[in-house]
Amino acid sequence: MQKTVIGNWKMHGTLESAASLASEISDYVSVRALQRTKVVLCPAAIHLTKVLENIAGSTVALGAQDCNANEQGAYTGDISSTMLADIGAEYVILGHSERRAGYAESDALVAEKALAAKEAGLIPVICIGESLEQRESGEYAHVLEQQAKNSVPHGFHANDFLLAYEPVWAIGTGKVADVETIHITHEHIIKQLPQGSAILYGGSVKPENALEIMQIPHVDGVLVGGASLKSTSFNAIIAAAEQEGQ
Ligand code: PGA
Repeated sequence: MQKTVIGNWKMHGTLESAASLASEISDYVSVRALQRTKVVLCPAAIHLTKVLENIAGSTVALGAQDCNANEQGAYTGDISSTMLADIGAEYVILGHSERRAGYAESDALVAEKALAAKEAGLIPVICIGESLEQRESGEYAHVLEQQAKNSVPHGFHANDFLLAYEPVWAIGTGKVADVETIHITHEHIIKQLPQGSAILYGGSVKPENALEIMQIPHVDGVLVGGASLKSTSFNAIIAAAEQEGQ
């Protein structure tokens, strides 16, 4: 079964470091001639075209970390999904918890962006996840149900998007959700989605836990933050995905 491994570089790097990281990853992907793993790199917007140059000729795809819901217009500082598609991006991460928390992005806005992304020919990677408080109070199942239902646009089919389950308490904290939690939660989320939808897990994925996570039923890949910033750790995660996909 195919696995997707996405690197979310967030607001890190320079033009030079982004270019070398992209080359190190795409060289690895080309040498390994991956059969079952799709690799996507999501650098900061300003590094997109440079990364694209450095993955050219490989099967690695380019993704952005956000887009505006409108095609064009007076939205100072923003980038549209049409612009992303125009420069050669194929994916866009939407509704990441850092955007939901830092920019008050609602499920409705995420759904609008996802629709715009699809119309531009991109694959939106729609993120959902509960807070620690919601996990501990037992509210999480309902919260995730609502987020999934309201962030994925009505009428979307399974191959129009990827869903990423990223518990907020596991992002950048080193605290990965345990196998049982990921299994039960993915099983719950999948019931809210169109049949055949793919769900990635994100939150402190590292080379040490990647294989174990990838072996969980209904885990179709991983969204990686911190460990995607070094080719040694990210390439090891790619290797785990390829191994599990066999
Ligand atoms: P992390 O981030 O791997 O550093 O926890 C994941 C994410 O934010 O997508």
